[in-house]
Amino acid sequence: MHNKIDLFNQTINEIEKIWSINKKLSDFVNFPKNLVLKEKSNNKINVTNILLDWKLEDNHKFEKLHNLISNLSPLVSWDNGYNENEVGKEFLNKYGFFELIGPTGHFETTDMALYVNFLDMNSHYPWHNHEAEELYFIVSGEAKFEKGNEAPVILKPEDTCFHKSYQPHRITTTNKKILSFVIWKNKFENVSKIVDPKGL
Ligand SMILES: [Fe+2]
Repeated sequence: MHNKIDLFNQTINEIEKIWSINKKLSDFVNFPKNLVLKEKSNNKINVTNILLDWKLEDNHKFEKLHNLISNLSPLVSWDNGYNENEVGKEFLNKYGFFELIGPTGHFETTDMALYVNFLDMNSHYPWHNHEAEELYFIVSGEAKFEKGNEAPVILKPEDTCFHKSYQPHRITTTNKKILSFVIWKNKFENVSKIVDPKGL
């Protein structure tokens, strides 16, 4: 039990450290003070073990952070966010997130929400949007990000991507997985919805 609490707290400390040296993160939202781990049961989905098995070598920029999150994987409450009718079964086997910090997170706050987001290789997360303003921060791996009518960009560790309220966006991976933080502010109680690209 003690190890479990240590692991959660070490992860939060590591995230706070990165926040303090990354202006994109600190300009988007202040890191919440005095976070306390609350009792929340774990929920395993298909990607839980894929992330647990994904460890980084020590020459990677975020090796420590990535491996802490990988070790947390079996202890957190994973979610798919969508149902099979919306995104298909294959996608649900390759995608998942958990709310590490937020109104219903492992660390509770109403100041912001930080979801840890995992997408396996050869995946396509279709166009979707939500009311909350969002910042993606890439921890490891890479993916193609598209938003609105803008040209696609390949995002890698330390890159960020901002999405305005209700701005449609989609993510595609090829031969690499991606682990990222999805940070929400303002109206984070409303969930993400798949949108029709023809409506763009
Ligand atoms: Fe989003």
